[in-house]
Amino acid sequence: MDGLITSPPYVGLIDYHEQHAYAYHLLGLEDRRHREIGAASAGSGKKAESAYKADIAEVFRKALSAIRSGGRLIVIAADNANLYGDIAAMAGVVGEATVMRHVNRRTGRCSGEFYESVFIWRKS
Ligand SMILES: C[S@@+](CC[C@H](N)C(=O)[O-])C[C@H]1O[C@@H](n2cnc3c(N)ncnc32)[C@H](O)[C@@H]1O
Repeated sequence: MDGLITSPPYVGLIDYHEQHAYAYHLLGLEDRRHREIGAASAGSGKKAESAYKADIAEVFRKALSAIRSGGRLIVIAADNANLYGDIAAMAGVVGEATVMRHVNRRTGRCSGEFYESVFIWRKS
């Protein structure tokens, strides 16, 4: 592959199995919440952060094995905990640019501006 663009789960923010409980129920899917990366139920303390970094870096290393040298891995993340510098080093990528993306909150219920980072990384 030439590249991959992804929006990974964040650390300690959402329990996706809970959020999509109806889908698991309707489709009869196996509940594998213990495998969820960054689950809110695991918290957002230092232990959760290091587990998150190790797990996400492992996913990225696996994805990178399918990407050609010089290809790109583009990651959209609200990196409030400032973990993505370490994750890039652990995944072995070279940072090319970081673009700040303004998120347009469609419901208008949340006050304040919200930005996400778009990390553009290159496989060396
Ligand atoms: C920010 S969402 C992005 C979803 C998707 N890219 C999209 O745009 O619809 C992060 C996703 O990562 C999934 N996820 C969390 N842990 C995972 C794991 N261990 N294996 C596979 N997916 C996981 C969550 O269920 C969630 O759907």
